Amino acid sequence: MPPMHVAIIMDGNGRWAEGRGKERFEGHLQGVESVRTAIKSAQKFGVRYLTLYAFSTENWGRPAEEVEALMDLFCTCVVNETPELIAEGVRVRIIGDKEGLSTEVRMHLDKIERDTEGGETLTLLLALNYSSREEITRAARLWNAHPDTTFEAHLYTNGIPDPDLVIRTSGEQRLSNFLLWQAAYAEFYFTPVLWPDFGEAEFKTALDAYASRDRRYGKITNQ
Ligand code: IPE
Ligand code: IPE
Ligand code: MG
Repeated sequence: MPPMHVAIIMDGNGRWAEGRGKERFEGHLQGVESVRTAIKSAQKFGVRYLTLYAFSTENWGRPAEEVEALMDLFCTCVVNETPELIAEGVRVRIIGDKEGLSTEVRMHLDKIERDTEGGETLTLLLALNYSSREEITRAARLWNAHPDTTFEAHLYTNGIPDPDLVIRTSGEQRLSNFLLWQAAYAEFYFTPVLWPDFGEAEFKTALDAYASRDRRYGKITNQ
């Protein structure tokens, strides 16, 4: 069985560009190609939920020109990719603090969520201005105000099954404030491949690694 939900920390765009003597932005641009491939691969291999970590709350600390370029790229991508996402039956949902984004970015994100609402083959969660600690403290506040509900109902991922597999590219082996609650029983796959080089073959290799894992959830094998 393929993992139902794959979450990816798309890392290494900057290093990909620097290694080629290019501006970091070129790496982000090339990373968009990998996003397209990942969406297609997820569909091809039967993954139902794909979460992509696109921008963390900590990423605001980068040089202003890189942040601006990334925000522009999000807007352009949303506009350019929407028709194909609709055609492919992909439903887009944003996780993260939308209020902290500019009105323009927020408008584009609201629009893609609305336009792809009918998608049924794959749910694509884009983590944008996302911080897992912010998500958890926010949920705690909301839960406190609505004690008759469940805690999970107040997470951005409400209604989405937990990730089965978390992939991180570029050799780093950390979560960087990503899905701390939801990844409690996820399998982890780390690869030195940089995000712009992560294609269908790498996606398949990660799924194969996942298939060989024994998920025991605290029990013993075959219990
Ligand atoms: C990941 O690539 C993309 C974002 C965080 C937006 P990086 O930009 O972090 O690339 P490296 O880690 O500097 O190589
Ligand atoms: C994590 O990558 C965030 C995204 C992929 C959007 P970073 O490159 O920001 O993470 P650190 O700083 O190396 O932990
Ligand atoms: Mg990085």
